[in-house]
Amino acid sequence: MTDPKQDRVLIFDTTLRDGEQSPGATMSHSEKLEIAALLDEMGVDIIEAGFPIASEGDFAAVSEIAKNATQSTICGLARANFADIDRAWDAVKQAPQGRIHTFIGTSPLHRDITALDMDGMVARIHETVSHARNLCDDVQWSPMDATRTEHDFLCRVVETAIKAGATTINIPDTVGYTYPRESADLIAMLLERVPGADAITFATHCHNDLGMATANALAAVEAGARQVECTINGLGERAGNTALEEVVMALRVRGDILPYATGIDTTKIMGLSRMVAAVSGFPVQYNKAVVGKNAFAHESGIHQDGMLKNKETFEIMRPEDIGLAATNLVMGKHSGRAALRAKLSELGYELGDNQLKDVFVRFKALADRKKEVYDDDLIALMAEASLSDEDAYLQIKRLRVICGTDGPQEAELTLRIGHDEKCVDATGDGPVDATFNAVKMLHPHDARLELYQVHAVTEGTDAQATVSVRLAKDGIVYSGQSSDTDTVVASAKAYVNALNRLVMHQHRGNLSALMSSAG
Ligand code: KIV
Ligand code: ZN
Repeated sequence: MTDPKQDRVLIFDTTLRDGEQSPGATMSHSEKLEIAALLDEMGVDIIEAGFPIASEGDFAAVSEIAKNATQSTICGLARANFADIDRAWDAVKQAPQGRIHTFIGTSPLHRDITALDMDGMVARIHETVSHARNLCDDVQWSPMDATRTEHDFLCRVVETAIKAGATTINIPDTVGYTYPRESADLIAMLLERVPGADAITFATHCHNDLGMATANALAAVEAGARQVECTINGLGERAGNTALEEVVMALRVRGDILPYATGIDTTKIMGLSRMVAAVSGFPVQYNKAVVGKNAFAHESGIHQDGMLKNKETFEIMRPEDIGLAATNLVMGKHSGRAALRAKLSELGYELGDNQLKDVFVRFKALADRKKEVYDDDLIALMAEASLSDEDAYLQIKRLRVICGTDGPQEAELTLRIGHDEKCVDATGDGPVDATFNAVKMLHPHDARLELYQVHAVTEGTDAQATVSVRLAKDGIVYSGQSSDTDTVVASAKAYVNALNRLVMHQHRGNLSALMSSAG
């Protein structure tokens, strides 16, 4: 219920739907389950787990997330037709609390695409929302491109959806076009003009095309919205969505301005941010608010001096509030399992016994190759552990590279492709080129290599390298990332990760085409 006096803002996370929809960010089934479990544990009120009609894979992921949910409501997206809505309900109905989210584009541009006039659209909204409400008590409805919809028509469609039984009305700024003042005015206008508006919850869903997504979401809250739709790291189509960590920390730090609580355990933010960066292949920019590597770094003399005297001189939130380690204890090959668990917990990773066993083996292997293991090495190792998916279509089994000053370099590669293992010898202009040629010989494809980037995780000649690879095919980008003390091995794994995303994408069809057919 949107009551401007109500002191709680619901957090609706759409990392697994709108976030995953961003070009190149396709996630595997097990990655989605892992992220959903962390979101649930962190206290997210509603998790939009996917778009069940999009593919068998999407349906399976949403259903399993629904079965595993403990406290979060699990939501599935559906266009304005019965088949989509039935499929979404089939996926979320096993959750302790399920929600159907149905939407249609209401702006003039979208009405043209769907070939519905205003009356036709109102009728469609009434019948689809009523249908959803007959299946489920918790129905969210969105007028896509709301911020470019005529105000009178927006009031009419919102009233129709409320009358048909919608319990949450979400107001999307689909193209990231609105200004904070307009965002607030729009919510205030709907609250004032639409009959029944005070009996439902208004949500705000902003995109970041002009860098105003967080400001727009907070302005909507100020005007009476009580649900914010957001993603971890602001992942999402084009310039992304409102970042969860920004909204949650802004509400926490500036409770004097917006006195609304969320149910989020903020100490889980950093762990989730790293996990999403690793599985999506979208690294977090260094100066990103709240979760960027430099968000708590104080380099200049004046700042460091102030920090030593009183942290509040330059710090408006504490690193530990978002789950960042306060110490920099170095680990090595003599460190035991308990020390590793404690260290990872400081870094924001809480591991079960089985997970710890697996990570400990990886840690020992790394510590054998590297004398001192720093925080950043462990973060890279955790990212690597979350990426190694036994179910992936392609997996590197063995790689041997021969280098010399008088080239060409040679790579011998064994790759598991589906259930078969194949090997090949290839040459190239350098060890990485030879390795990529070997992958391409075993799994021919016509994707173009758009980016190949290496950076050292720490310093020294034994430092791990993190490699990012971006492949493009038919205008869609697929990213892969990997870390290893051997740069060529990291490169090969990053390349194969990107190829696995391409294969996954081809198996599940084109999501964007489905979205645009919703008008
Ligand atoms: O941005 C948007 O309009 C959406 C809708 C499906 C809610 O993501
Ligand atoms: Zn969106």
